[in-house]
Amino acid sequence: MPENVPVLTIDGPSGAGKGTVSRIVAGRLGWHYLDSGALYRAVGVAASWANLDVSDAAALVRCTFDTRVRFADDSGKGLRVLVNEVDATEELRLETTGAVASAIAAFPEVRSALKERQRAFRQPPGLVADGRDMGTVIFPDARFKVFLTASAEERADRRYKQLKDKGVSVTIDGLLREILARDARDAQRTVAPLRPADDAVLIDTTGLDIEQVVERVLAIVAP
Ligand code: DC
Repeated sequence: MPENVPVLTIDGPSGAGKGTVSRIVAGRLGWHYLDSGALYRAVGVAASWANLDVSDAAALVRCTFDTRVRFADDSGKGLRVLVNEVDATEELRLETTGAVASAIAAFPEVRSALKERQRAFRQPPGLVADGRDMGTVIFPDARFKVFLTASAEERADRRYKQLKDKGVSVTIDGLLREILARDARDAQRTVAPLRPADDAVLIDTTGLDIEQVVERVLAIVAP
């Protein structure tokens, strides 16, 4: 029964380190991993490929149902995300894709179209689910809930270093502005706004390195 499968939800704003921490924690526990942001990003990419108007809710919902997303780890290049069988891993990570994902994620119809798809990831022996509303909406009955935060400045700084390593040219000020705008959009939308579940453990990752955060999260699952 999927309801008996343990779930660890890791929610928080973009840049708090959720993705990296969730992947490592899932690996150490031997559990499955759901990158829910990738689903919103995949719909964003598919909508861009189809030149859809991102304010057209009906078209976006059709696009959400029509978009096939497959996570593949068989190419020797790490985890790839295939959107309608096209490798869109790099495009998915672009700041512009994140902004489109955030905009379309504000539509309740799009969110509900993705609900069951996210719940289907709940498979034995367990699931680490990373996102914004994993503990509040998608898996409210999760056994373990974490909310990761970090100051906006630190998040902009981390993102800057990641992008610089990839040779992408950006400014910290520009990133900080984008992060604050996205936080505001994600927190203020009426459906599933970004907020910690009442029973989530809050971890402020400002000044902590990845391993320290991983240890704190693992201590919650296996104290
Ligand atoms: O985690 P991420 O940056 O890949 O997510 C991209 C956008 O998708 C984010 O700005 C808001 C949206 N999102 C959401 O609304 N709910 C989720 N569970 C995950 C992502």
